[in-house]
Amino acid sequence: MKTRKGVILAGGLGSRLNPISLAISKQLMPVYDKPMIFYPLSTLMLAGIKEFLIITNPYHLNSFQRLLGEGEQLGINITYECQEKPDGIAQALLIAETFLGDSPLVLILGDNLFHGNELLPKLEIATKKEQGATIFAYPVSDPSRYGVIDFDINGRALGIEEKPLNPKSRYAITGIYFYDHTAISKAKLLSPSDRGELEISSVNEMYLNESALDVQIMGRGMAWLDTGTFDSLQEAGEYIRALEKRQGLKVGSPEEVAWRKGWINDTELEKIAQKYIKSGYGEYLFELLKMRS
Ligand code: DAU
Repeated sequence: MKTRKGVILAGGLGSRLNPISLAISKQLMPVYDKPMIFYPLSTLMLAGIKEFLIITNPYHLNSFQRLLGEGEQLGINITYECQEKPDGIAQALLIAETFLGDSPLVLILGDNLFHGNELLPKLEIATKKEQGATIFAYPVSDPSRYGVIDFDINGRALGIEEKPLNPKSRYAITGIYFYDHTAISKAKLLSPSDRGELEISSVNEMYLNESALDVQIMGRGMAWLDTGTFDSLQEAGEYIRALEKRQGLKVGSPEEVAWRKGWINDTELEKIAQKYIKSGYGEYLFELLKMRS
């Protein structure tokens, strides 16, 4: 099987966070002690992804490059592309065409935070699947805000609707999508929806119609956090802060993931820790080294 590549979609205008988002990309805003993009980046690194494309809007490209560079400090490779206008999540597949070649991929939204024990095993299964797609459904109290999937009594997926007024289930489709390389040709068949976007739900629907869609449920032990509004952004920060304070372990540190995976060695981790020494983040990286020795 060809190595799976990662695409992080971090464009959009973040208009629901204006005026904060006028000068700062939403996906670079802090979620407690890290820029938001660290969380989806480390999620994909946990899944074993080492080749990344980050898609941003043209105004913020430089900031992402300043933060993450080409990824060598994390033992990964990062390239960048711009999305001129937020014409839909599925457009990311078209923008990523050259980067992807005929590799399978995982697309993640740059503002989606996942946390919980079930995460790693679920990611590992999805990564290994060679053909078709895997998406994740999560029960929410306000499904109308999302792509919604419903099931028959045997748990088989029946249909997908984007932001339905009368949702047929409580299961929202989360912003992480594992696809084989046919996702690109599927995205090419799309035309803009009523809201003017190339819908990722339509790509998922095509996989469903081919009986090639695996839907994994994320249960109540998992957290899938939203960061789209002032309140949800603040709440996500509070959640991460509470966990980190209690456990003394960080959630969503790409440096830690890279080190634990053996993609960077002790000396390389120490170099990053040194750079951040004036913040608790640097101290934490030093602690990791000390705990092991
Ligand atoms: O969060 C999961 C939901 O994401 C799914 O349940 C929906 O099926 C899917 O359509 C999407 O919902 P929204 O339409 O509400 O996503 P939103 O417009 O908020 O965009 C999600 C992120 O992707 C956001 O950080 C901005 C970025 N984005 C979005 C679009 C449409 C881009 O970078 N480019 C885009 O063209």
